[in-house]
Amino acid sequence: MDKVEILVLDFGSQYTQLIARRLREYGVYTEIVPYFESFESIQSKEPKGIILSGGPASIYQKDAYKPDKRIFDLKIPILGICYGMQYIADYFGGKVIKAQVQEFGKANLELLNSSISNKIFEGVKPCSIIWMSHSDKVEIIPDGFIELAKSEDTHYCAIANLKNQIYALQFHPEVIHTECGGEILKNFALKICKAFRGWNMARFAKSEIEKLRNITKTGKVLCGVSGGVDSSVVATLLYQAIGEQLIPVFVDHGLLRAGEREAVEKMFKQNLKVPLITIDASELFLSRLAGIIEPEAKRKIIGETFIEVFESEAKKHNNNGEIKFLAQGTLYPDVIESVSVKGPSKTIKSHHNVGGLPEWMKFELIEPLRELFKDEVRMLGFELGIPQDMLMRHPFPGPGLAIRIMGEVNKQDLDLLRKADFIFIDELYKNGFYDNVWQAFCVLLNVKSVGVMGDNRTYDNTICIRAVEAIDGMTATFAHLPHQFLEKVSTRIINEVTGINRVVYDITSKPPGTIEWE
Ligand code: XMP
Repeated sequence: MDKVEILVLDFGSQYTQLIARRLREYGVYTEIVPYFESFESIQSKEPKGIILSGGPASIYQKDAYKPDKRIFDLKIPILGICYGMQYIADYFGGKVIKAQVQEFGKANLELLNSSISNKIFEGVKPCSIIWMSHSDKVEIIPDGFIELAKSEDTHYCAIANLKNQIYALQFHPEVIHTECGGEILKNFALKICKAFRGWNMARFAKSEIEKLRNITKTGKVLCGVSGGVDSSVVATLLYQAIGEQLIPVFVDHGLLRAGEREAVEKMFKQNLKVPLITIDASELFLSRLAGIIEPEAKRKIIGETFIEVFESEAKKHNNNGEIKFLAQGTLYPDVIESVSVKGPSKTIKSHHNVGGLPEWMKFELIEPLRELFKDEVRMLGFELGIPQDMLMRHPFPGPGLAIRIMGEVNKQDLDLLRKADFIFIDELYKNGFYDNVWQAFCVLLNVKSVGVMGDNRTYDNTICIRAVEAIDGMTATFAHLPHQFLEKVSTRIINEVTGINRVVYDITSKPPGTIEWE
């Protein structure tokens, strides 16, 4: 376990994770805990600085979120962002009110002359673009605080109590649209908190392999593999740590993309030298999905069937109870989500994982990636020698193509979707766009429309192409792919995939949409 340098207290902002990600990019190991984390726990982590995140609440509401105020007794630097700023202002006797002009989106930061030399703004342009997302504002700053910057509509955009090293920003430095946001966070961590800058993947891989060897001395480790980056990295890490004690199981649910199973098998055999066990359960999955239309019902069936198949395979390898551990590719965002201040009620889609395992399979869990963000997992994979093209593959959801076919899933539609999807991905590679987008795929809409091909009327299905840009998939913007490129993809799909006569492009971002359609 790495030593926490900066601790983020989460007040429920959709951007909280980005704070930790950005600081880790600078080599500063940062963790996130909910705002109600006990003082004893915070103290035991011995952070060099604390960041209070933004959040949806208003500080003047009766049940406003408040952390243990003893954090201020730690005498370490504190940075409040958005709600975090409003909490600081309120706590120290300032005044927070509902803003007459709510600011959402870009604004201009104007540094006061006196703050240009302030450590937190070193290297920041006196006038730069920032990202705002607030409906409350600080009206009166507390005694002992000074004003550092303003924007057109917000007088107190940045304030500080220099004596006590408490800083507060109304804007979001963690969001990529804030021009010098990374610089500001880095300044806080390195110049103000004097955080140690030693977080890197080579160190992580070495210590993790050592740790896994020690943990798994007593038994074998079962590991579900999907061909995605996370499970491949987990399996490789484990194989490098414990060799044949690892049992990697790949369930082919028949909802994979064109050539995917073969690619996964080849990768494990040739590159990773990991002996993979593949189970072809496609018939079973398809028979269970017959007639099912509702997205959550599909997800539930796939999740349950997956567990059933996985369980029966596990039994075969556990005759004498030699399996003691189950490895999972849980990532840090999932860990944070599970203790989120927002609570479980905000589930938008039930994600497909192996959480519902039967009692006898409740082996001890091994989650070697639980401290990492997605891009860090890629870096780790690179350290472990996983091929670049594998690591840079777009994420693929557990329920596979089933949630990219609107309505009932059947073999015929799966084949149709696979062909169209292959063409889209092929063109993205050929035109050098694949690595520029976070995810790209086709959706079979099951909407028929009239067309004309040659001299004939057609009445066929519609393919939607979806490509998004994102940093972690929590928010996303639709990719602005060139029209000429989209035209090429559309022409190829209609010409090459019988049964499709119309192609549409999804121009919805997340929010308000989600990346997948179901
Ligand atoms: P949404 O559609 O919620 O997706 O915006 C965000 C990211 O999560 C992926 N996704 C899943 N991944 N199991 C997974 O392993 C799932 O059930 C699942 N559902 C969505 C999605 O592809 C995107 O990258």
